[in-house]
Amino acid sequence: MTTRMRRRAFLGTTLSGTASLLLARGAPAARAQARESRIEILLDEPIGTIAPEIYGHFVEHLGGVVYDGIWVGEESRVPNVAGIRRALIDRLRTINPAVIRWPGGCFADSYDWRDGIGAPERRPRRTDFWADTRPSQDRTATAGPQRFDPNRFGTNEFIRFCRLVGAAPYIAGNVRSLPAKDLYQWIEYCNAPPGSTTMAETRAATGEEAPFDVRYWGVGNEPWGCGGNFTAEEYATEFRRYTAWVPKFGVPIRFIAAGPNGGDRDWTTRFFRALTARGAGALNGVYGFAMHYYCGSTGDRNAVEFTTADWYDLLARADRMESIVTTHWDAMAESDPSHKVKLIVDEWGAWHAGSADLPPNYLWAYSGSLRDALVAALTLDTFNRHADKIAMANVAQLVNTIHSLFVAHEDRFIVTPNFHVFSMYAAHQGATALRTTFAAPTIAVNRDGQPRTLWGLNGSASRRGSELMATVVNPHATEPREATIVLRGATAREARATVLTAADLRAHNSFDRPDAVAPVERVAAARGTSFVHTFPPASVTALRLTLA
Ligand code: AHR
Repeated sequence: MTTRMRRRAFLGTTLSGTASLLLARGAPAARAQARESRIEILLDEPIGTIAPEIYGHFVEHLGGVVYDGIWVGEESRVPNVAGIRRALIDRLRTINPAVIRWPGGCFADSYDWRDGIGAPERRPRRTDFWADTRPSQDRTATAGPQRFDPNRFGTNEFIRFCRLVGAAPYIAGNVRSLPAKDLYQWIEYCNAPPGSTTMAETRAATGEEAPFDVRYWGVGNEPWGCGGNFTAEEYATEFRRYTAWVPKFGVPIRFIAAGPNGGDRDWTTRFFRALTARGAGALNGVYGFAMHYYCGSTGDRNAVEFTTADWYDLLARADRMESIVTTHWDAMAESDPSHKVKLIVDEWGAWHAGSADLPPNYLWAYSGSLRDALVAALTLDTFNRHADKIAMANVAQLVNTIHSLFVAHEDRFIVTPNFHVFSMYAAHQGATALRTTFAAPTIAVNRDGQPRTLWGLNGSASRRGSELMATVVNPHATEPREATIVLRGATAREARATVLTAADLRAHNSFDRPDAVAPVERVAAARGTSFVHTFPPASVTALRLTLA
């Protein structure tokens, strides 16, 4: 162990242990913590470049995500650009949505891409995966595009949306209910050069002469469940078959293998063993391995009505992302020791019951609270800290379901607290993640009914030239944390802080109060190599330092 590592280990354990003891004995909280909390940003310990795609999004034909959320139609009274909701385009562009995954989710393995191309009036109506296949779901499916998908939003419209917001498209193929030939013909439709093949002519006939150049292709979704009920070994065989000898049309295709749910390490180990059973060369055909992790509320699963214990319970379950990332990364190393394949988290977020304020067939539609914003922040910080492992992550989902950044219904549109976190964190994209240590009094919490401790402060830091950004979460429901921040290897000249918090843990935005939770700018007295900063209770802070 090097001296530097020993110092880090000491700061990361001993201080927090001592401080939590002080707290447990009832020491005057805020003052006692002031001297105990410390953040060290180690500028000479770069972790890697934070892939902009870590700040990616996910769009599925589910509830009000596509129809109403994104697609309103050219004739709509809702302001739109070629059928796509203008307010969504305008706000999404501001946070640099590097990549968007579509059309599912579980929907992907029921979707025939041919249904969604050509003249809109001739496209077939199909039963949406989410309308009839889940008898246990807690919302009623009613008529409309949520139940019978008109296929008005297909490949061309998705590409149009991506172009309008400046995102790379990531298309999830269908493995459960279409043959491999459909995947490579879909690739051909998207990527074949003008005038080359019949598929290129089919595309050109829709007015799209130039290829779409789609690089990211998912091979199914959740193959252990709605994606086909495969075993890891069966899916590995399917993955090899679906990706074998696919014409690339000069586009560097990045195939993404679908992975397990949450902490199912066994699936990962078995998939990689089976994939490489005929030689390690198979790893060259996989760009990323995508796992999913949702945390969700317990009890009645209400997104905005919860107790302080529920607050900590959800944050502690969201924090499992840290061990989930390292667990899968280690499991992948057994068959891929040089880590050719990167980790992708192509679905994540906090999943609650739908709000009564939105149509019941929108399924899990709600405006998340401040609690969800902290879930977003600590999750993005986790990804930043593992910038050397994670190539992409897609929050589930963009609008009107689960951990959405936006809520839209007809002509009403708001941003959620999650959007503000993405906005505050946007400067991390493409910057170099720096090793950072956090030492603060830990918090005793219950996770899923089990006693646990949650860190008192955590976050991430990155550098781009003379700009340094540290993002920090204080999960304590009532107590501020005054922390000494030490820069190892740089000097701060000036700083600005953006803070997201609210007096009520359950604060959330609504159509009536769209700015109930919004960030505020603060001047931060950060100069030199060491300074003190106070993080308010229940807050997310982005500290932007200009280095001397
Ligand atoms: O995001 C909703 C669903 O959650 C997705 O369709 C599926 O992949 C996951 O189980």
